[in-house]
Amino acid sequence: MSTGTRHVLDVTDLSVDELDQVVALAERAHLPPVLAGTGVALVFEKPSLRTRSATEMAAVSLGGHPVFIGAEEVGIDVRETAEDVARTLACFHRTLCARVLDHGTLVRMAGALDEADVDVPVVNLLSDRSHPGQALADLLTLRQVLGPAGGPAGRTLAYVGDANNVCVSLAKVLVMSGVHVRVASPEGFGLGHVELGRLEELAEAAGRGGSVTATGDPVAAAAGADALYTDVWTSMGQEGEAAVRRLAFEGYTVDKALLDRAAPGAVVLHCLPAHRGEEITAEVLEGARAVVWAQAAQRRNAMRGLLAWLAGARP
Ligand code: CP
Ligand code: NVA
Repeated sequence: MSTGTRHVLDVTDLSVDELDQVVALAERAHLPPVLAGTGVALVFEKPSLRTRSATEMAAVSLGGHPVFIGAEEVGIDVRETAEDVARTLACFHRTLCARVLDHGTLVRMAGALDEADVDVPVVNLLSDRSHPGQALADLLTLRQVLGPAGGPAGRTLAYVGDANNVCVSLAKVLVMSGVHVRVASPEGFGLGHVELGRLEELAEAAGRGGSVTATGDPVAAAAGADALYTDVWTSMGQEGEAAVRRLAFEGYTVDKALLDRAAPGAVVLHCLPAHRGEEITAEVLEGARAVVWAQAAQRRNAMRGLLAWLAGARP
């Protein structure tokens, strides 16, 4: 049984030093073709625009050959088990990337490859729990727009909305990077005590002065913040809850009034896709403070850095 293969199912699968290495690789204009002649499997159980294109182009830029496999084609646990899917794809690919409905599917895939002593990393392209590639791109974006070279350490980001997969991965990466994170969510949709405790421990262990707080008050969260961030109120797989969620999240829209409470020059991030008029107004999303297109572009750099690192590249 192999224990040496590094899987990235969550951002905390990287240490703080390793996160720095991935960031350094991602920020390089050129990387060696460390995936030359190898396949990169891209399994998607849910739709994607950014993640698929970003990961495919990252793989190509490293000399790899991406192969997209959609939900119906792969039929995880319908046509064959997640374990059999992983072991089959490992016959052809150097890296196995997957977007799954249930985070446990990724754990099973990684476990099956370790059990079979197959050295193929599994990379999470979004699960119900975590979106590490997005969080890496968000960190790169903050480094790009908040500079200077020291990066966003010591700055404050307010996440307003559902404490979902995107929020939790973002908070982890940011507290590992010394950022003060405030999360504002309605009752029942915020960071739980356990999650909050884990984030506080992560901030403490990173030793970079980062912190995390949770509140029900978006205005308090946004006050003086250097960046505001939001995501959809209803994530993929939760469509049946959309009406209930729209009611619960009333008052949590990132609008001009909320942005006016933030620091002068504060930037606005959104992982996209966006629902204008729900979690963010069109005015803010299209406004001068939104950096969402730079953020989308960073998705490819993030995946380049991560795939290269997993293939053994070091800065
Ligand atoms: N932000 C993001 O992951 O977008 P896609 O769902 O389009 O990949
Ligand atoms: N939280 C959203 C992010 C989409 C990129 C979802 O999981 O659907």
